[in-house]
Amino acid sequence: MRVLLVGGGGRECAMARLIARHGHELAFTHDNPAFSRWGRHVRADSVLEAAQESRSELVVVGPEGPLAAGVVDTLSAAGIPAFGPSAAAARLESSKVFTKSLASRYGLPTAAWRVLRKGDPFRPEVGWVVKLDGLAAGKGVWVCENAAETASAVVAAFAARPDAEVLVEERLVGPELSVLALCDGKRMVPLPAARDHKRRFDGDEGPNTGGMGAIAPVRVAPGVLAACHDVLQRAVSGMAADGVPFVGVLYGGFMLTPDGPRLLEFNVRFGDPECQAILALWEDDPVPWFAGAAQGRLPEGAPRFRDGAACCVVVCADGYPASSANAPIESLPQDSEDLFVDQAGTSDRDGRLWATGGRVVGVTGVAATPEAARSRAYAAVAEVTFAGAAWRRDIGC
Ligand code: GLY
Repeated sequence: MRVLLVGGGGRECAMARLIARHGHELAFTHDNPAFSRWGRHVRADSVLEAAQESRSELVVVGPEGPLAAGVVDTLSAAGIPAFGPSAAAARLESSKVFTKSLASRYGLPTAAWRVLRKGDPFRPEVGWVVKLDGLAAGKGVWVCENAAETASAVVAAFAARPDAEVLVEERLVGPELSVLALCDGKRMVPLPAARDHKRRFDGDEGPNTGGMGAIAPVRVAPGVLAACHDVLQRAVSGMAADGVPFVGVLYGGFMLTPDGPRLLEFNVRFGDPECQAILALWEDDPVPWFAGAAQGRLPEGAPRFRDGAACCVVVCADGYPASSANAPIESLPQDSEDLFVDQAGTSDRDGRLWATGGRVVGVTGVAATPEAARSRAYAAVAEVTFAGAAWRRDIGC
């Protein structure tokens, strides 16, 4: 099948590798230097134009921005099947208030919450989590230790966006789990659960990032996964009942509390770098799954995944997330049966590969056990060399 892939990061590298491995003809909207081995970059003014120029039979959308902006609606109106939610369904990620309201109406377990508008009275007595509504790219969230911090965070949120709705919610404690599923508007098919490491430094210290690494699958207590899957299925059924069917990847971010999993947020696409770890284990052709979802009917059963585990370690600029790299890449490990190297922030300059992004490369090791997958990834990370290369040393621990 001719497939157009939208997006140009490490997640899309992993998607491209898997799609190309199964013989599909790939075109890309973005010019990631790694993509040329799998297909061609289409220069066009819009995704629709790129899809028409490449005569694509399916468009697969990686990032949330184009989804929230309605790229799937535009493609559908032109009769081009697309894997991803409509703008209305993408509100599950682009509006935290929308998601909380869905959670309340359909009984999805989540933290206690309320919405504030500028000037609303609010006197916190404990630390809350304060979130600006809308897509925030990992920013716009304040996790507050006490009442004073919460009050300051609310002031900061309205200073940043005076017309915004601000969500304040109860602070939950526990390990986090990312549970992703393919959805066709009615049914969801879960993928192996993953764990992302969002903080920049070892020991979960430092600022939030897009994600410094991920491991999959994550072993959890009996019943936990079933409870998370139930939340995803109830969300998909609720969206259908509301007349906004959800198609694409629904990503539930959960906190595993002593009282059971609690939904922290939904994303409406593969997580990055969770995608790199999950797809490293995926054995089947993904295109029938993506195309089936886009047509409103996922295939029966579930995709097959390799036994064992995958661990993705992100190599970033030393100043990330505040700044990006700007240095030639001296060496990169090569892809092999048990190693996948995804370029996220690289550019071709005069025939040389440069590190130019915040997150530069993701290195994913696959092995029989999580420990061996970590070792495989970390052995290869040492082969990524550019000035200022940095990474966490505790991914998957
Ligand atoms: N890794 C977190 C995200 O993709 O949102």
